[in-house]
Amino acid sequence: HTVFVLNGPNLNLLGKREPHIYGAETLADIEVACRRHAAGLGLALDFRQSNHEGVLIDWIHEAREKAGGIVVNPGAYTHTSIAIHDALKAFSGPIVEVHLSNIHQREPFRHTSYVSLVAKGVIAGLGSHGYVLALEAMARLLAAPV
Ligand code: DQA
Repeated sequence: HTVFVLNGPNLNLLGKREPHIYGAETLADIEVACRRHAAGLGLALDFRQSNHEGVLIDWIHEAREKAGGIVVNPGAYTHTSIAIHDALKAFSGPIVEVHLSNIHQREPFRHTSYVSLVAKGVIAGLGSHGYVLALEAMARLLAAPV
């Protein structure tokens, strides 16, 4: 199975941006960790980041043809984008939502997620390890859908 791992705005600044919240690792570091685990799980990864809502939507549409599942950290679009919600709703495979930080512990505007409404599950607050956990969950979901 191919899994799209899609990252939204500002995640290209990981490691430099508010490391006390998001950690010292860069997105490239997270990609390396994901690839290391994906190999053992039998998953092929397509790992991407964009700061643009429309680009993320185009990628979600592309996933309809190319991916069995989507792991997504939509960044701040989590809390604002009905368009990303709609695009994900048109994807038939499993979706796992990931956040590095525990969004429920932060400002009230981060407590709602339009993506959670269409995600199979959500991982938040476990830092970069959340991505690895999401891939493990994805491998299981793709092997035996629940
Ligand atoms: C984030 C949480 C969002 O609220 C924030 O806008 C981000 C990153 C996270 O991974 O913790 O950009 O999705």
